Amino acid sequence: MVELGCLWAPRRWSLHVKLDGMNPGGSSKDRAALRIIDDALADGRLRPGGLVVESSSGNMGLGLAIVCASYGIPFLCIVDPHTTRQNIALMRAYGATVEVVTVEDPVVKSYLPTRLARVRQVLAEQPGAFWPNQYENPSGVAAHYDGTGPEIARQVGGFPDWLFIAVGTCATIQGTARWLKDQGAHTRIVGVDSVGSVVLGGPAARRKIPGIGSAQKSSLLDLSLLDHAVHVEEDAAIAWCRRLARTEAVLAGGSSGCVLAAIDQLSDRFADGDVVVGLLPDRGSRYMDLIFDDGAPDGHG
Ligand SMILES: Cc1ncc(COP(=O)(O)O)c(C=O)c1O
Repeated sequence: MVELGCLWAPRRWSLHVKLDGMNPGGSSKDRAALRIIDDALADGRLRPGGLVVESSSGNMGLGLAIVCASYGIPFLCIVDPHTTRQNIALMRAYGATVEVVTVEDPVVKSYLPTRLARVRQVLAEQPGAFWPNQYENPSGVAAHYDGTGPEIARQVGGFPDWLFIAVGTCATIQGTARWLKDQGAHTRIVGVDSVGSVVLGGPAARRKIPGIGSAQKSSLLDLSLLDHAVHVEEDAAIAWCRRLARTEAVLAGGSSGCVLAAIDQLSDRFADGDVVVGLLPDRGSRYMDLIFDDGAPDGHG
């Protein structure tokens, strides 16, 4: 957790960002991946040596690749053409097998149904294969309930007034928000989605920023935990990533830009002295072509 002093200055509220890109695998997903595998080993759904197969746009794949490598478990990751070459190379470096699906579902305009169909095929063909199923696995939520929630409170010295979290599978926001509400925290929870994602409502459309949003709703999310839901244009998110890098020297990924854009959208509601926390899920160095290349919006203004 670091406090940022330059963005939106001068201002009367404080801004703290949790840099989950500093995790060993480079994202929030490390925490969920470890808990999912530990829980599955503990209750026998996964036996040592059994194959783990998952559909991932990158970060969960990397988290699982690290956990599986350290436990000596083979891992097959199903990705799509949006996954960066670097993420694929990293997973392979950790010993994972990576398979890229190339056919998009024509109705929802997403690769997700194709990726999931391939996972089901592998499960049918390989007895003993384990599917973490990050979109439905409550262990991911538990990881953030036990980890992210208490850490945020500890790191800012109490419950923040506002907490902005990007949504994908919704494990992060569900676990963190549930923990805060269970403590009686007054924190206003803001779910951050990208335009074109259906997680927090709205029509499906083509999106390019990985990690945030989905073409399907989350079964993990209790929407009543959210005080606000914000949809962010992807170009605005990219502009915020660039601004963050140039003013605060923090290089973060596209969903982090969405979080900052959402903070900007709600900033006129913050009271003097409010403690605002944004969770930045991963690092920008993995998205140089998408976010920091010359053709992207430059973030001026
Ligand atoms: C880049 C990125 N954005 C957003 C999220 C949202 O997380 P979740 O799938 O828990 O909703 C994640 C999760 O790690 C992520 O890696």
